[in-house]
Amino acid sequence: MAEERIYEEFEHYLTPPSWKDRVWEIEEYKAFYEETIKDKENLEKWWAKWANELPWFKKWNKVLDDSNPPFYRWFVGGETNLAYLCLDRHIEEGRKNQLALIWEGEPWDEMIRRPKEIRKFTYYDLYRRSNRIAYALKEKLGVKRGEILTFYLPMIPELPLYMLAVQRLGAKHSIVYSGFSAFALAQRAMAAGSRIIVTADALYRNGKIIPLKEIVDEAIEICEEKGHKIEHVIMVKRTNRAAIPWIKKRDIWHHEFIRYISENARIEPVKLGSEDMSYILYTSGTTGAPKGAQHSIGGYAVGLYTTMKLIFDIKETDIYWCAADIGWVTGHSYIVYGPLITGTTTLMYEGAPTYPGPDRWWNIIERYGVNVFYTSPTAIRMLMKFPLDYVKKHDLSTIRIFHSVGEPINPEAFRWYYKNIGKENIVASSTWWMTETGQMLTGHFPGLGKIFPLKPGTNGYPLPGVKMEVLDEDGNPCKPGERGYFVITNPWPGMFMTLYQDDQRYIDVYWSKFSKDNKWRFYTGDFAVKDQDGYLWVLGRADDVLNIAGHRVGTAEVESAMVMHPAVAEAACVGKPHEIKGEVAFVFTVLKQGFVPSDELVGELRNHLRKTIGPIVASDATILLVDMVPKTRSGKIMRRLLKAVITGQKLGDVTTLEDESAIKEAEKAYEYLK
Ligand code: WTA
Repeated sequence: MAEERIYEEFEHYLTPPSWKDRVWEIEEYKAFYEETIKDKENLEKWWAKWANELPWFKKWNKVLDDSNPPFYRWFVGGETNLAYLCLDRHIEEGRKNQLALIWEGEPWDEMIRRPKEIRKFTYYDLYRRSNRIAYALKEKLGVKRGEILTFYLPMIPELPLYMLAVQRLGAKHSIVYSGFSAFALAQRAMAAGSRIIVTADALYRNGKIIPLKEIVDEAIEICEEKGHKIEHVIMVKRTNRAAIPWIKKRDIWHHEFIRYISENARIEPVKLGSEDMSYILYTSGTTGAPKGAQHSIGGYAVGLYTTMKLIFDIKETDIYWCAADIGWVTGHSYIVYGPLITGTTTLMYEGAPTYPGPDRWWNIIERYGVNVFYTSPTAIRMLMKFPLDYVKKHDLSTIRIFHSVGEPINPEAFRWYYKNIGKENIVASSTWWMTETGQMLTGHFPGLGKIFPLKPGTNGYPLPGVKMEVLDEDGNPCKPGERGYFVITNPWPGMFMTLYQDDQRYIDVYWSKFSKDNKWRFYTGDFAVKDQDGYLWVLGRADDVLNIAGHRVGTAEVESAMVMHPAVAEAACVGKPHEIKGEVAFVFTVLKQGFVPSDELVGELRNHLRKTIGPIVASDATILLVDMVPKTRSGKIMRRLLKAVITGQKLGDVTTLEDESAIKEAEKAYEYLK
């Protein structure tokens, strides 16, 4: 089993040769780490050191206000703005010509064997363009401080430009991943109370044009049915597709929106409180409604700056590439805000890793000389399936640091990239964090000038200044090597501040399970193990949340989407292990009376899933029709048993089961499917 495999790796140490004179004894590193978390004074000293490397409009007077836990406030009294930190200050400090963003479109010219479109932006370019957009938003649509705009945009430069534009104005964004459905978009736009949606006509993916505007129109209809009005849709023209549906007065092209605004238009970045909101990002939880993680400004910036320096060891001269989508937190923090705050060059690639061939990524790394690379285990597992020649064709020697994120990395995948991409001479680790934490919280820290040995598959150590524990059901620390619940026991600067307009849910979901005796502990929802050296190994979710190719999806979300279909009476969703994606959805589905099981109906249900949640869930989901699902006597679906059925494990305790034939039936149906 995967878990046992990981334990074998506990004692397997690797040291890249170029670091051999700069290796911490683990005890030596531990002592350094322990010092940062010893008491509140040291903790504040540690974070203040990093905060002092950033400019502030007004300096804070308190590093951490913990007087009202679990509502922590960082850098209280400080004033700043993310657009100022990402752009203006670099210009003030003489770095206006530094390359800030390289964007590469997906379309490929086979004749010259190069991408058809590359756009490069200096810090000054981003500054001018985002100022112009900010000016248009303010003057033409009256966007004010505090307003939340919803962005449903693909990976094009206008996405970071609009993000930076709203930050200047003190407005906020809520970005919805462009693979989400109309229903998911509507749900999020309504929850954020947005009156403006920024989108594009379509996006490129795998050589195909995928329309977006129609999805937005459908989402707006859903909003309107519920009495929520979207007043304006700004649309970036990405493709040449014709016949785009249009509603006069409501819809405007981005290029027309800014056409008559001077290119020299300027908006002073609004001086915002360090603890003001920078954005919300909806993420999945164990119940149906998505949670709006609300992020701060000052603390968030300090968290990103510190981790860019420590974990990525970032230099201004680096070409840095995080191959994620900005629609997820990884892209917010580590394609846009983190790299720009540090003044490095961030690369943004629009399309699929395998278009037009399986070496597109290696080709990109070679062409720009990428130094620091960040991606997901799913992508690595997918790319390692192709013949090694695709890798060998390219010079990847510029890579110095290569980290992964989003899900546990299996030691095989780690070894594969360490050897074949990194030539066994890179710093590599699996950085654990989540939407709520805002910033990376574990890994290796080459930025300290020394590293502790790598171990294939591990999450490394907690970041200095961050205390993490693995606890049993009663909240007692587990012994080294024992699996338990993963908790964080002190606050950190990049942390979310609450769930948007739902303080109670913030307390209930994250702070209730393990807090006691006035000690507040953040529950991550993950299982983890600490090994004898103190290295962490996050094993996966401990709650009813799936992690499909690094994307979080609540089982309740899938179930409620299923029962929206007129043929479905009931659904129970569990995760099924998948070789590449880590996990995929497996949905036991009960039809309503009068509906006859058929392949067509299953196809229709899959399509329905695609439309209500999106292709992330639908594409590899199994929908299995059954007569009933196993429940407890109190009516709760026993997902644990269904999971045991599809993973071939023992059923365990079934005494609370209401009707045993449900599980027999599930087993039979599953056997038949195989
Ligand atoms: C999982 C993504 C193991 C974990 C930044 C967490 C990981 C969830 C890792 C958050 C990692 C993230 N090793 N598991 N390095 N990184 N996870 O909010 O289960 O999309 O709770 O944030 O992904 O997913 P989210």
